[in-house]
Amino acid sequence: MMSSSSYQEIAAKKDYTAENNIIYIEKLSKVFRTKAVLNEVSVTVKEGEIFGLLGPSGAGKTTLIKILTGQLSYDGEAKIMNQTCRMLGRDVYDHIGMQLDNCGIYDRLSCNDNLRLFARIHGVDRKKVAQALDFVGLSRGTDCAGKLSRGMTQRLVLARAILHSPRILFLDEPTSGLDPVTTRKIHDLLTDLKKQGVTIFLTTHNMEEAHKLCDHVALLNNGVIVEYGEPEELCRRYNRDNQITILLKDGQVQSLKNEPDNADLIAQLFASDQIESIHSSEPTLEKVFIHLTGRGLED
Ligand SMILES: Nc1ncnc2c1ncn2[C@@H]1O[C@H](COP(=O)(O)OP(=O)(O)O)[C@@H](O)[C@H]1O
Ligand SMILES: [Mg+2]
Repeated sequence: MMSSSSYQEIAAKKDYTAENNIIYIEKLSKVFRTKAVLNEVSVTVKEGEIFGLLGPSGAGKTTLIKILTGQLSYDGEAKIMNQTCRMLGRDVYDHIGMQLDNCGIYDRLSCNDNLRLFARIHGVDRKKVAQALDFVGLSRGTDCAGKLSRGMTQRLVLARAILHSPRILFLDEPTSGLDPVTTRKIHDLLTDLKKQGVTIFLTTHNMEEAHKLCDHVALLNNGVIVEYGEPEELCRRYNRDNQITILLKDGQVQSLKNEPDNADLIAQLFASDQIESIHSSEPTLEKVFIHLTGRGLED
């Protein structure tokens, strides 16, 4: 649960409104038959930011994206561009780009034809197809989509998602299973899109990705938001086990809490030239998550 106190904290902010936020969610719940999958989720996303929904598999991330993009019913409030997600109209859909698992790419069509088809549906000028493919670095537009590698398919899906220059982009685990080089390329593309003013709502269970890219993250566990904030600020707030590990020249390892009381000891070790190496273990979003839920994001 976004603990009710932090929910109230957020809700008490005067800009917690559907008018001030491009995405507005308040006490949103989803039940599949008898299974509660989202439980009173409340969160907002400001125009132009990258927002990351972090959580392990089964947390409810895809369900939330499907609700926001008008594909599932729900209880509570959810709005995009101040329009309720239950009944999004064409005027909002034209501003939304999405990349979900069921990516809707036709294997037997070329990359060009896949995008041209989508362009026609959205009334987009065909010239944009080449631009979008160029943006994601797919020069081989005539290749059959079915022949692309996983990373290239991901980039094709991204090209399709941005083809109509949306204001909001929903990305469900955009880099999951990709190699580090392709992952970095996608991160660079997302950073570029953000510079152009696009709002990005992404899900991930990769907290490094979230830390690097996101202005705000919400940590989702079993359908409940357990924390929300800026990645750096969250890490600082859960700074408890910030340790300094010192390897001494004689091979001994000393672990100390990173706090002023230990400064003298560390200074002494330096002064007597006993230190081989020194490392501080910064808190990470993964550690914050484990602290809050008792489990990691990959579990
Ligand atoms: N159509 C559905 N019917 C019943 N249960 C579902 C359905 N879709 C998802 N779920 C369940 O909802 C939970 C959250 O799923 P999901 O949103 O896909 O999580 P995530 O994307 O975080 O991995 C899971 O337990 C999943 O089994
Ligand atoms: Mg999912």
